[in-house]
Amino acid sequence: MIIAIDGPSGAGKSSVSVEVARKLGFSCLDTGAMYRCIAWQAIQDGVAFDDAEALEKISLEKEIAFTHEEGNPKPVGVSMGGVDVTSAIRTREIDRAVSPVSAVPGVRAALVAQQQRIGNAGNYVVEGRDIGTVVFPDAAVKVFLTASNEARARRRVLQNEERGVGSTDFEEVLADIIRRDELDSSRAASPLKPADDAIHIDSSDMTMQEVIDEICALAQKAMG
Ligand code: DC
Repeated sequence: MIIAIDGPSGAGKSSVSVEVARKLGFSCLDTGAMYRCIAWQAIQDGVAFDDAEALEKISLEKEIAFTHEEGNPKPVGVSMGGVDVTSAIRTREIDRAVSPVSAVPGVRAALVAQQQRIGNAGNYVVEGRDIGTVVFPDAAVKVFLTASNEARARRRVLQNEERGVGSTDFEEVLADIIRRDELDSSRAASPLKPADDAIHIDSSDMTMQEVIDEICALAQKAMG
């Protein structure tokens, strides 16, 4: 069974996904991390972010692997072609590179196929931008999670402080979020948009626990 959680960056998808998965006994799949891996590899290889052919080749040939730990729904690490990139994919450089890379149709096709393989093998909470529209259009529950730009920037700053990677300057993070949303929403291939049957949740004035409870209630209802 798949619970799809789509929405812009900083809406709280990651924190919510892991707690929903924990409560339901599901695993988490962070599809954004996969696009980040391709951007990281492109930088290592000196591949330009508009070189669609080379980016597609990376997506088809390099293996993205998540490391799981018993009892933890969220992978504890991610590797790209055997190299641990858990922290390396969270830098500001990757934040900036990932939007153009994720707009390449060949990259999306390769990663969507991998995401479907992973998700179809179990019960997953899958977070991303096109999960309810493209990757799992038959997901049992589809949520489109949003929040105001300011709320999202505030949360991203806190997350970066906790992780010890990425910018912790509010204005800088806010500008990055707005720029990235625009790119993600205006691209031709699978733009960020809610599925027709997605349930919209605006988390600006909600606690994370309220969002988690609402999604779990939707999941319980779907499970009968
Ligand atoms: O969720 P995130 O910020 O880690 O995502 C990184 C980038 O990847 C984001 O700019 C949009 C893109 N992305 C995508 O295009 N499709 C997805 N399913 C997930 C992420």
